[in-house]
Amino acid sequence: MLKLNDVYFNYHNDTPRELQVLRGVSLSLGEGEYISLVGNNGSGKSTLAKIICGLLKPSEGTVIWSSEESNRLIPGHRTRVGLILQNPDNQIFSGTVEEDVAFGLENLQTPLVEMKRKVEDTLRSLHLWDKKDHPTHLLSGGEKQKLAIASIVVMEPECLILDEATVSLDYRSKEQVLETIMFLKKTKRVAIIQITSSIDEVISSERVILLDKGKILYDDQVSSFLKDSEIMDLIGFDMPAYVSISQELIGRGLIKEVCYTREELADRLLWEYQYRT
Ligand SMILES: Nc1ncnc2c1ncn2[C@@H]1O[C@H](COP(=O)(O)OP(=O)(O)OP(=O)(O)O)[C@@H](O)[C@H]1O
Ligand SMILES: [Mg+2]
Repeated sequence: MLKLNDVYFNYHNDTPRELQVLRGVSLSLGEGEYISLVGNNGSGKSTLAKIICGLLKPSEGTVIWSSEESNRLIPGHRTRVGLILQNPDNQIFSGTVEEDVAFGLENLQTPLVEMKRKVEDTLRSLHLWDKKDHPTHLLSGGEKQKLAIASIVVMEPECLILDEATVSLDYRSKEQVLETIMFLKKTKRVAIIQITSSIDEVISSERVILLDKGKILYDDQVSSFLKDSEIMDLIGFDMPAYVSISQELIGRGLIKEVCYTREELADRLLWEYQYRT
């Protein structure tokens, strides 16, 4: 669906010295994939997100969408990607919550019945439906962020990028966002790239890409990443509790495989218990 070939990016900033931020990034992204993009501050994650969206153009290298070269911005290119940033203020328009979410679909001249259905489904899934008639400027910070997410999600882009988009949300709202994007992934094959520094969010994804000083240092399955303490140390991630507990239990001969969630660990222990007795 999307391929980046040897992408370099330099910020110029009107100074004689260029700042090289991406240094030969190559990656491919398939339909419905769910990727965590991780890396230390300043490693180039947000810059890479903007390159994928077409907001920035690579200094060298290519971004190819399903076999079509798009080094330059092509018409309609941006509707392929929905980018959600950490600060919702510049992504929200005036008017009511419902109007804000309908805005993009109206621009695409979506038929009214379909538009109303999509807006209602999205607002319900993010638990904002009871606020549909509220003026957007009266929402709390977290509600504004969920609204910004709703306004992008409702467009069902081919690829959804969340750049630290859930940082300000409480636990329940984070779960609602996760459920909403998982639904899109399953039903519409939307590819998801989440830029995050939360191990809990990484666990929900399938693949981890680690950027280090503008280069991809790691690109593998989440299950491999979570077992790789060296690579996790590099970005200051702690091994998730269930992984270290299950490694301890493996060491003591009680289970045989690493578990990533509470349910998995409970199921595994129950299975071993029943199997052995
Ligand atoms: N508009 C800009 N002009 C010049 N330099 C920039 C600009 N935006 C980012 N940079 C620089 O590019 C580098 C990478 O920035 P980027 O925002 O892509 O990193 P990041 O991985 O998203 O970091 P963080 O985790 O802090 O969000 C940083 O050194 C930053 O100072
Ligand atoms: Mg960033």
